Amino acid sequence: MMGPPGAGKGTQAGRFARERGLLKISTGDILREAIKEKNPTALEAKARMDRGELVDDAMIIAIVEERLARPDADPGFVLDGFPRTVAQATALDHLMDGRGPLVVVDIVVPEEVLLRRLAARRICGDCGVNAPVEWISACGNCGGALVTRFDDGDGVVGERLKVYHLQTRPIVEFYAGRPTFRTIDGNQPPDVVTASMDAAVCQASLAPREAQL
Ligand code: AP5
Repeated sequence: MMGPPGAGKGTQAGRFARERGLLKISTGDILREAIKEKNPTALEAKARMDRGELVDDAMIIAIVEERLARPDADPGFVLDGFPRTVAQATALDHLMDGRGPLVVVDIVVPEEVLLRRLAARRICGDCGVNAPVEWISACGNCGGALVTRFDDGDGVVGERLKVYHLQTRPIVEFYAGRPTFRTIDGNQPPDVVTASMDAAVCQASLAPREAQL
């Protein structure tokens, strides 16, 4: 699942994976979890995340490669936040060898809506989940306090969007000619986006096998 910060990749990837019993791999969640555990490499990556920059390709590709090598990835998986550069997209094509098809869905949302969503977002400080509006001050899953995500501050969001346009948007061109590429409107209520996502993935998965290769 592709899209700029705040497009709803995490929300939709979570729903899609849960409904199908598939593994969800979110590189952002993996990094945040490793930072919480004070993993030294992840703490180095945090400096870049704090500035709204991307983490080094080699590190991210190694994370995804290791995760895909485990048996729970065999039935299929949902990728949230990866790939984000042409180098990562090229590596993913290699990792997909013998698997597939790779369906790519780009979630499109106007920038002013992204800014509003990210300014309003609260997450659980303990389990990291996005808080729905009905959670006032505590997490409905684990009771943790709700906080602002460390990279959702004004200056950092601007940089994340800039980095998205410079480094991630070019991979839309990388995928656009493929029969398994779809674009959906993410500026709709979450359930409507979920329905569009289901339809897009279903339709793209039915693209003739030989055209997917
Ligand atoms: P990452 O965690 O991937 O963040 P991101 O891409 O900036 O995306 P977000 O989590 O902000 O937004 P989202 O699109 O998932 O939307 P969400 O569903 O949460 O990456 C963070 C950092 O890690 C990067 O900046 C980078 O440094 C590093 N990193 C990660 N992967 C990397 C990689 N591959 N390479 C290099 N570096 C990497 O929704 C956002 C908000 O909107 C929520 O509050 C949600 O409730 C709300 N919302 C969602 N859908 C809707 C809707 N339809 N209507 C109204 N509100 C909605």
